Amino acid sequence: MRTLASLCLTLAVIGAGCAKNDTAPAEVVAGAAGGEVGPDGPTSIVLPDGLDAKVASADAKKGEELYASKGCKACHNLDGTKLVGPGFDGVSKRHSVAWMARMVLKPEVMVKEDPAAKKLLGAYMTPMANQMVNPETELPNILAFLKSK
Ligand code: HEC
Repeated sequence: MRTLASLCLTLAVIGAGCAKNDTAPAEVVAGAAGGEVGPDGPTSIVLPDGLDAKVASADAKKGEELYASKGCKACHNLDGTKLVGPGFDGVSKRHSVAWMARMVLKPEVMVKEDPAAKKLLGAYMTPMANQMVNPETELPNILAFLKSK
């Protein structure tokens, strides 16, 4: 026991640690990525040009249809209740449009690199599946729909 304890101490000193080592605060994680991860998510996930304007002229009703046809509905309720993932009620108050866009386009990157998405994965324990949303024809409508929530 004494040997194990001192081994742990040694590992801790050289920075490996003996406990789960993924609990670094969000600021540290963001800082480690060279300031590329902000409130809108990692800039490595490239968004369509002029996305805000596209969302402004998009159709929330079509977005709601896509919520059903693209499979979002299997994991997200429209009220605040949890299904596999969080309910969409108030989602646009929790995240920027750019963050939601990145989550929809590349959830597998977001849960690895974005502090807020990592936290969600920690709480919901299931990684969101990439629904292969078309960034030009589908994404703006989905975002207009999410913005209305
Ligand atoms: C297989 C289940 C699943 C599907 C399908 C899915 N999601 Fe998710 N989604 C999740 C989970 C779980 C989370 C929480 C983060 C995580 O664990 O990856 C999440 C998180 C989100 C968030 C952040 C929610 C919040 O309240 O913070 C948004 C926005 C989102 N998803 C949008 C969508 C959209 C739009 C679709 C359809 C194109 C979709 N998701 C399809 C499971 C899913």
